[in-house]
Amino acid sequence: MKLLNTYSLKLLTVATAVFATTLYSCRTHFGMPEHDYTRKNTAGTIERGRNLVYNLCGECQFDASLSSLSGRKIVELPRSIGTIYSANLTHYGTTGIVNNYSDAQLAYLLKTGIKNDGRFIPYMIRPTMSDEDVNDIICFLRSDDPALTPSQMAGKTHLSLIGKLASHTQKPQPYITGIKNPDPANAVANGKYLVDILGCYHCHSKNILGLDYQQPERSKGFMRGGMKFKNSEGKKIRTPWLISNETSISKNYSAEQFRQALKSGVTPYGRRLDFPMPIFKYLTDKQADDMYAYLNALSGKNRKQ
Ligand code: HEC
Repeated sequence: MKLLNTYSLKLLTVATAVFATTLYSCRTHFGMPEHDYTRKNTAGTIERGRNLVYNLCGECQFDASLSSLSGRKIVELPRSIGTIYSANLTHYGTTGIVNNYSDAQLAYLLKTGIKNDGRFIPYMIRPTMSDEDVNDIICFLRSDDPALTPSQMAGKTHLSLIGKLASHTQKPQPYITGIKNPDPANAVANGKYLVDILGCYHCHSKNILGLDYQQPERSKGFMRGGMKFKNSEGKKIRTPWLISNETSISKNYSAEQFRQALKSGVTPYGRRLDFPMPIFKYLTDKQADDMYAYLNALSGKNRKQ
C-alpha cells in the first residue's frame, strides 16, 4: 500500500509537471513590466544603428525593390507554417512598428522577443545584446533615413496550426540590462559577440531546440552545423560545420576570403552560397575579421565536443 502511494505520488508529480509545462508553453501572452527608458543620441549613434539594423534585420526587413525597410513576405519558410510577413519598420501610421512602439517597448522586444501587445515572436530574441546597441538601433529607427520613409506593408502574417505549435518551441527571454559592448580592440571577444547577435549560431548549430540564447556557446553543437533546412531548390540541406575540422573556416578561408564570402555570398571556390545563408553585405571589414578571429579561436577549444 505504501509502495503504491509513493508510486502514485511520483506519478501525480510527473503529471502535474507535464501539465504545467504544457500550459506554460501554450501561453500566448506575456506581460511587460513598466520600465523607464531614455534613448541617447550622440555622435555616431545613428550610423552604428544603421549598420546593426541592416546586418541583423536587413535580410528579412528590407524590400530591395522599394529600397525600404517596410518588410516583405518571407517566402523562404515552409508553406506549412503559414504566411509570414516581416514587420514594417518604416514610420507608417500606426501599423508601422516604429510609430506604434515606445522606446521602452522597442528595447524590451529586442531583448526578450515580446511585442507591445504581449505576444511572443520567436525570431527577435537577443537577450545578450548590449544596452548601447539597443540604444543605437532605436535611434536609427527614429531617424529620417530614406529607407524609413512611411511605406505601406505588403501583407499580414497568418500562422497555421503547425506554425503556432512551432513558435511554442521557443521561449521569451529575460530582459537583462547593464550589458556592455566588448572592447573593440579585443577581436575574439568582439567576434564572439557578433556571432551571437547576428544570429550565426541560430543556424550553424545542431538544432533549434538546442539553442541557448543567454549563453550561445552552450547551444548544442555550437557552430558545428547540422541544422536542417531546405535550400532554394527545395533540397534538404544541413548547415556546414564552421570550426575545428576539415571544413572549418581556418582550413578553407583566409581572412580576406571569409570577408568576401560573408559580404558577397561567394566562397573561395567560386560557389554561390544558397538560401538560407544570408548575405551580410553591410558588414564592415573589422566585423568580418573579428568573427574570423573568434571562429579560429574556437577551433582548438571545442574540438572534442
Ligand atoms: C538563416 C540561417 C543562417 C544564418 C543566420 C547564418 N548562416 Fe551561414 N550558412 C547557412 C547555410 C544553410 C549555409 C550553406 C549554404 C550553401 O552551402 O549553399 C551557410 C554557409 C556558410 C558559410 C560557408 C561555409 C562553407 O561551406 O564553405 C560560412 C562561412 C557561413 N555560413 C558563415 C556564417 C556566419 C559567420 C554567419 C553569421 C554572421 C552565418 N553564417 C549566419 C545558414 C545560415
